[in-house]
Amino acid sequence: MKTATKRKTKRQAPFEEEHGAAFAEYTQRGGEAALGRAYGLGRRAINEKKSLMEIASLHHRALHGRLAGLKGGARHQKLLAAAAEFLAETLSPYEMAHRGVQDAIAALRQLNETLEEEIKRIAYAVHDEAGQILVAVHLALADVARELPKPQKEKVGRIEELLNQVEKQLRRYSHELRPTVLDDLGWIPAIRFLAEGVSKRANLRIQIKTTVAGRLPGPVEIALYRIVQEALTNAARHSKASRVWIRIGRKNRIFCCSIEDDGVGFDVQAVQSDGKRRGLGLIAMQERLNGIGGTLSIESARGRGTRLLIQLPAETQNANSHRVS
Ligand SMILES: Nc1ncnc2c1ncn2[C@@H]1O[C@H](COP(=O)(O)OP(=O)(O)OP(=O)(O)O)[C@@H](O)[C@H]1O
Ligand SMILES: [Mg+2]
Repeated sequence: MKTATKRKTKRQAPFEEEHGAAFAEYTQRGGEAALGRAYGLGRRAINEKKSLMEIASLHHRALHGRLAGLKGGARHQKLLAAAAEFLAETLSPYEMAHRGVQDAIAALRQLNETLEEEIKRIAYAVHDEAGQILVAVHLALADVARELPKPQKEKVGRIEELLNQVEKQLRRYSHELRPTVLDDLGWIPAIRFLAEGVSKRANLRIQIKTTVAGRLPGPVEIALYRIVQEALTNAARHSKASRVWIRIGRKNRIFCCSIEDDGVGFDVQAVQSDGKRRGLGLIAMQERLNGIGGTLSIESARGRGTRLLIQLPAETQNANSHRVS
């Protein structure tokens, strides 16, 4: 017969209690072991998602408590010095995590730049190479048609019309992939161009309203274009919407862009939960925004449409950006 063995798990003291004990130990007796506890507390704080403000106020309370029990200037000085060392050690995991995030963002930027180069290459290939092949097909057809009787010539003519449509669509796709207007005139005209194409293809009414004009730094414009491109693709593919509104503006020191549709909506939490995630579009949007210091919030509910809100701190923009009335 099996006997149930009770596994003893050591209960972890609440964070504040553990912090108070380690703080008291270090400020009273010093030593590497207590500093190690401070570092461990920093790691635990990150895991428990404690903010730096929480750590600072915890530290302040602990220090206040110890100061109240001490008399004499020299002791105060010693305590303050020890407390500063303890705080620095507690915060060092945050410092490392912060550096890790900065490195990841730099890598992400690099990745996006490489991706943009690849997109450019594909856009040119579609435009130039496919275009040249189609020219060759046109010439070959004209050759064939010359020797054909009139009724067959007309049939070849219809094939040529279809080929012209293919050519037009390919040109359109290649321009949308990497619009030259994005480099020449900026992301807002590029979005207007994109919206025009999506609107025709997906039978969506897309309205763009902007209260800002001017240029943003290149990487920011590319990121914003790609995000709106994905949002419109999603609206066309998933939403069954009839209308989309894109609103661009600035509120206080925050630059905002929202993309809203009147479609079927979706369960954001379910789509974003680990294990259930299928697509890459929403993650890519988020990552592009991380790379330029922006945030994305998604509001959606079944039957009530979807609204994506992009926010960027004003310092991400350059001086060329200004309000229009
Ligand atoms: N505007 C929208 N309306 C309704 N559902 C949406 C909308 N945008 C996203 N979704 C839902 O969220 C899911 C995730 O979107 P996401 O863009 O990440 O992936 P995807 O579009 O399915 O694939 P991918 O973008 O990788 O080609 C979609 O599959 C869809 O169910
Ligand atoms: Mg998508």
